[in-house]
Amino acid sequence: MRKPMVAGNWKMNGNLESIRQLMDGLKAGVDSVESAEVVVCPPFIYVPKVVGMCDGTKIQAGAQNLCDQNSGAFTGEVSGEMIKDVGCQIVLVGHSERRSIYGETDEAVADKFAKAQELGLKPILCVGELLEERENNITEEVVGRQLDAVINKSGIQALANSVVAYEPVWAIGTGKTASPEQAQEVHAFIRSKIASLDAGIADGLQLLYGGSVKSGNATELFSQADIDGGLIGGASLDATEFLAICKAAK
Ligand code: PGA
Repeated sequence: MRKPMVAGNWKMNGNLESIRQLMDGLKAGVDSVESAEVVVCPPFIYVPKVVGMCDGTKIQAGAQNLCDQNSGAFTGEVSGEMIKDVGCQIVLVGHSERRSIYGETDEAVADKFAKAQELGLKPILCVGELLEERENNITEEVVGRQLDAVINKSGIQALANSVVAYEPVWAIGTGKTASPEQAQEVHAFIRSKIASLDAGIADGLQLLYGGSVKSGNATELFSQADIDGGLIGGASLDATEFLAICKAAK
């Protein structure tokens, strides 16, 4: 049985006060989340604070990105070692905003994934197609290519201690969710692609859906056979809403 996971991606939002309030709200309600692993990914500068706030709760803190290098002359970057050093074990890799706004290629994402794995951080690898790619019926080709870059670099075994999040780019922050059937179709494709290389890894892999998930659509999305939870952007900034989504992941 795969354990569901719901991860909140706060993106570049919040300040000390709003984050304190959000965490207070999450801590007050998280014990009523029965099954899902609950993760929050604050902006880097708040990660150590949030790690401290998670102490003694079942909420885990993650980072939104990492550098593919260990240390040195990389101004503005944050290494995986540093992320681990402040008590964080999870990191998003290849979020579509990193790919589209900051030009991270499939290969750059694969390098970051490999670095996270090497350091013992659990990467949440984000994949997903643009609207234009879906309209051209190349969703599986695009998602397959994004996965292949990682598998070719790190090997299929590397997926054993990782999470994959399918996030159709056209559904992120747009209020347009993939229908449960559309999402399930791509999740099934991802799982079967991985199963063709290693059935055991495919079976145990937590596959999250992301893109305008709200409490109102979470239950239906998460009830699909290959959807094991969600990666939540906007709705993770509201404690009540995020907890309701976490509870829907069973
Ligand atoms: P959204 O973002 O839930 O606001 O669509 C999802 C994400 O970017 O991970």
